[in-house]
Amino acid sequence: METPLKTSNYELHPASYRHLSSGHPWVITDKFTDSFGAKDRLIRCLCKKSGNQFLLIADTAHPKIKARLWSHANEPESLSPESFFSVLRERLIDSFSDRLRIIQENKRQDIFLSFGEADFLPGLFLMRLGEGLIIQSYSGFWKKIQKDLIPLIKEALKEVGLEDMISWISWQERNDQRDSPLKPIFGKMPTTINVEEFGVTYKVKLDSGYDLGLFPDMAAIREKFQKSFSSKKVLNLYAYTGAWSLMSLTARASHVTSVDLSEKYINWLEENITLNEEKFRGEHRSITSSVSSALKKLEKSEPNSFDFIICDPPSFSSDGKKTSSSLKSNEAHMSSFSQLLRKDGEVIVFVNTHALSWKKVKDTLISSGKKNKLRMIGSLNLSSDCPTLSSFPEGEYLKGLHFKKI
Ligand SMILES: C[S@@+](CC[C@H](N)C(=O)[O-])C[C@H]1O[C@@H](n2cnc3c(N)ncnc32)[C@H](O)[C@@H]1O
Repeated sequence: METPLKTSNYELHPASYRHLSSGHPWVITDKFTDSFGAKDRLIRCLCKKSGNQFLLIADTAHPKIKARLWSHANEPESLSPESFFSVLRERLIDSFSDRLRIIQENKRQDIFLSFGEADFLPGLFLMRLGEGLIIQSYSGFWKKIQKDLIPLIKEALKEVGLEDMISWISWQERNDQRDSPLKPIFGKMPTTINVEEFGVTYKVKLDSGYDLGLFPDMAAIREKFQKSFSSKKVLNLYAYTGAWSLMSLTARASHVTSVDLSEKYINWLEENITLNEEKFRGEHRSITSSVSSALKKLEKSEPNSFDFIICDPPSFSSDGKKTSSSLKSNEAHMSSFSQLLRKDGEVIVFVNTHALSWKKVKDTLISSGKKNKLRMIGSLNLSSDCPTLSSFPEGEYLKGLHFKKI
């Protein structure tokens, strides 16, 4: 028997009703949300104008998002607080079932089994890594109902036949403090594991804090390019632990240069290279440096020589002197990409933040590309196990643009 959830009725700002009615799942802090109580778990509200009812999960400790949409008037069966846990169970089952095809293909062991708002599990991300399941909670609500949530996750795994795949479960709070370690809650979590993705083995360090060494949300995008690297000379900027470098090497790239400012990540990347050495013949070179200074040097030493550049900066990065946003640094680096690429060479550029719209990213980079003989030939979105909702632009945080040098 699950714990009853304290449910309160509140009035919301008219704009919140408009957003919720159009499918946007967040209620952002304002004078109406000030009245939410710290002990509230569910929030019921009724828009008097439209007569629409909503059930929200409370997220009162979050600095900005005070509640997230659970159900609205079109789903009367899930509007009642009493049905919350049975609806949760059904949504977990649906979300796991949606990934069964990818799991059965057995091409990767890093898969999101639920992807938050897009799976109608707001702020709850469940990531399979090898034999483990990592519960990433972006909303304080889930921690508060953890005791009831874990058995439901186990039941849902069993229901879809995945219970044998998972031997440990850990919990990670995902918030702005980037030091939240994984907390084991079931089974024995190892400190490091090897995870397979499209024939590459990655070392994942489960004891290393916020970032585990692999970003599974990019796996489907990486797969799209697997066939593009054969015999190519590749430059991987902001290489981190080397996912793109290893993917291109095992896809028969002839040469890969990886650049990252952090010695820690370059060492980790080298560990990953060693793990996979037998699978490739191409050469690899690591450069521990800021991207700006590596680009300046490479422009002099190896102009017009790269076939493929991947540039995936963090949302904000510093080269030791100044800090810039990923959009600004990408914009500034477009001329170097053009200098470094041979004719018909390609570059993929990412901006990883929900704070910038697709329009802003496209307008800025396409215009900078035009000035530098780089023509946009495609865009890259989250997909596959990482779905998005058209009514929720914040969920489309990963934005990639693909250019060709003309
Ligand atoms: C978002 S991660 C890149 C993820 C990686 N592309 C992947 O797919 O796994 C950002 C990386 O950029 C590195 N970094 C941050 N600022 C940098 C800079 N100015 N120059 C070079 N690397 C930088 C960080 O050390 C980190 O490894």
